[in-house]
Amino acid sequence: MVKEEILKALRSSGGYVSGQELCEKLGVSRTAVWKAVTKLKEEGYEIDSVSNRGYRLRNLPDVMTEAEIGSRLRTKIMGRNCVCFESTDSTNIQAKRLAEQGAPHGTLVCAEMQTEGRGRRGRAWSSPPGEAVYMSLLLRPRVSPEHASMLTLVMGLAAARACNELLGRDAVGLKWPNDLVIDGKKAAGILTEMNTEIDCIHYVVIGTGINVNTRTFPEELSQAVSLYQAAGQRLLRAELIALCMEYFEKYYEQFEKTEDLRELKEEYEKLLVNKGKQVCVLEPGREHTGTALGINDRGELLVELPDGQVEEVYAGEVSVRGVYGYV
Ligand code: BTN
Repeated sequence: MVKEEILKALRSSGGYVSGQELCEKLGVSRTAVWKAVTKLKEEGYEIDSVSNRGYRLRNLPDVMTEAEIGSRLRTKIMGRNCVCFESTDSTNIQAKRLAEQGAPHGTLVCAEMQTEGRGRRGRAWSSPPGEAVYMSLLLRPRVSPEHASMLTLVMGLAAARACNELLGRDAVGLKWPNDLVIDGKKAAGILTEMNTEIDCIHYVVIGTGINVNTRTFPEELSQAVSLYQAAGQRLLRAELIALCMEYFEKYYEQFEKTEDLRELKEEYEKLLVNKGKQVCVLEPGREHTGTALGINDRGELLVELPDGQVEEVYAGEVSVRGVYGYV
């Protein structure tokens, strides 16, 4: 893709790159380079073109396009096939559609806004344009169906690590099983959906919504927080997405080897905000309180009950709240 390669070359140079150099590097004509640069300018990139010197990237917009994400990806598989929408019903629904049409393992679907964004437990996920990441990753895992739910935790860990790397500090923690939190408020959520048979997985779609550059939330979302609010600076969403893919690919390889989280447990627990805290486990028809100790190899939350017994809580139907609030 010419635009993607031009972005890569201009970004890595930091200065002027001659049209000739770009033509040779990309194996395309000068006109093709010029056309691609013109398109990029239309998309909001500020590119200086000076005769005898070439092109220079002066400023880049916070866009989530195939070219911008692709130019930043350092993965082998995750996100390599990437489809971006200005607006869509839900990236999870889109990813499922693509899965049915045979899209490959690692396909990433992103959208600037969603008209039917969905959260866990049938809730809606508010999805206005311009400030958040809405993305869904399609996987065709070669693991048995009962192990697939752990993938949500793998994505949670990857997304939290990516956010923290861009923020330059461990501001983002994980509320089991997969909410990203900052100072007790929710910065991101994950919705995993699967198409399986008894003993095989057709595909899994992991949908992640991250509040990135949101300045203020409406009153009904008083529990929400954005990375911008925590960092005081805007982040480039494509950079965050590419980093998420990179961490996810690394963690996924570890998960695939053992079909569980034994190699990721320690890292997950480092970011687990529930650890050592009193939690309230809300199961359908049952509610009880204990101390969260950490997770086991299967990603279940270990909760020590008042009688000293340790319960292993499976993510499925359960919701965990802090005794004094959301965390
Ligand atoms: C939650 O309830 O915490 C999960 C929220 C998941 C939202 C994301 S946004 C991208 C993807 N598409 C959706 O419709 N939902 C997920």
